[in-house]
Amino acid sequence: MKIAIASDHGGFERKADIIEYCAKKGLVLEDLGTHNTDSCDYPLIADKMADYIVNKKADLGILVCGSGIGISIAANRHKGIRAALLYNEQVAALAKEHNNANIAVFGGRTQSKEEVLKYLDIFLATPFSNGERHIRRIEQLDN
Ligand code: RB5
Repeated sequence: MKIAIASDHGGFERKADIIEYCAKKGLVLEDLGTHNTDSCDYPLIADKMADYIVNKKADLGILVCGSGIGISIAANRHKGIRAALLYNEQVAALAKEHNNANIAVFGGRTQSKEEVLKYLDIFLATPFSNGERHIRRIEQLDN
């Protein structure tokens, strides 16, 4: 599975934490930037990631901004994107199980490294339920 990751300056540090953690687990993430802490615009970062996912250049995305909110809003404006802000363990599982989220989102200034890595692990380990009602609802999102 190919995973891409991107952040704005507010999520830069947490992005580095995630990349380092995944590398230790043998998962190489494609880093779409930003590549330093200079101020940048999260909508443009989200657009880049959405293009990656929609055009199947990656199977799954991870986005980080300061709060996780702006970059979620921006990503979810794209048809085919289901970006979920993972803010606790239950939501980390449900975002995959019920919503089959294709982008996991975190807040670099609002969530600790430990929280983010724990929720990411849960999200990655949880399968989509494939339930008929969940498939129907996901299809309705793009109609
Ligand atoms: C950047 O300062 C900050 O506004 C951004 O990272 C994010 O939190 C927006 O929702």
